[in-house]
Amino acid sequence: MTSKLRLLGVADLDAIERIERASYPAPWSRSMFTGELAKPGSLCIGAFDSDAELTGFLVVSRYVDAWHVMNLAVAPENRRVGLATTLMQQLFEQTAEDGNRGYTLEVRVSNAEAIRLYERLGFAAKGVRPGYYTDNREDALIMWKGPAGDEFP
Ligand SMILES: CC(C)(COP(=O)(O)OP(=O)(O)OC[C@H]1O[C@@H](n2cnc3c(N)ncnc32)[C@H](O)[C@@H]1OP(=O)(O)O)[C@@H](O)C(=O)NCCC(=O)NCCS
Repeated sequence: MTSKLRLLGVADLDAIERIERASYPAPWSRSMFTGELAKPGSLCIGAFDSDAELTGFLVVSRYVDAWHVMNLAVAPENRRVGLATTLMQQLFEQTAEDGNRGYTLEVRVSNAEAIRLYERLGFAAKGVRPGYYTDNREDALIMWKGPAGDEFP
């Protein structure tokens, strides 16, 4: 599938919300996305098909020790063709110069597909945040790739 990547802006909010609502039991609000788009330390990347329709997105925040993956979602009809992988690889490329910062994220312990994706990208589970998700009190698996994660046992 041909896909084009570019930074997201406020004009993409409707399409972002459509994918978000189709992807999560407790979707982010529009204002959460607006906040991320406005933050100087955020990187918000979208994948678009040949009709310029948004097919997936990645939202990442720069923290002191790591790039924190805040949100990653692909439209249900566009899954399993490598879009999430492409978006994450773009992140690694764009931040490659930033050698001292690793990458981290939280994922629901039940989200086997996403955990598999992250493991294939080089992330490893380093801990659990009990009851992290407020909708069902599910635990979050904390995953790391790169420098800071290497310091954990
Ligand atoms: C998780 C998600 C982002 C994956 O997007 P995607 O574009 O389909 O992922 P990719 O095509 O790049 O998949 C790469 C690999 O991840 C694993 N994977 C992805 N989806 C999977 C699934 N449904 N079942 C099993 N493995 C899966 C596979 O190893 C896959 O490689 P393969 O297709 O060669 O077997 C997508 O399913 C999604 O949006 N889910 C809902 C939101 C979500 O859970 N986001 C992550 C929150 S932390």
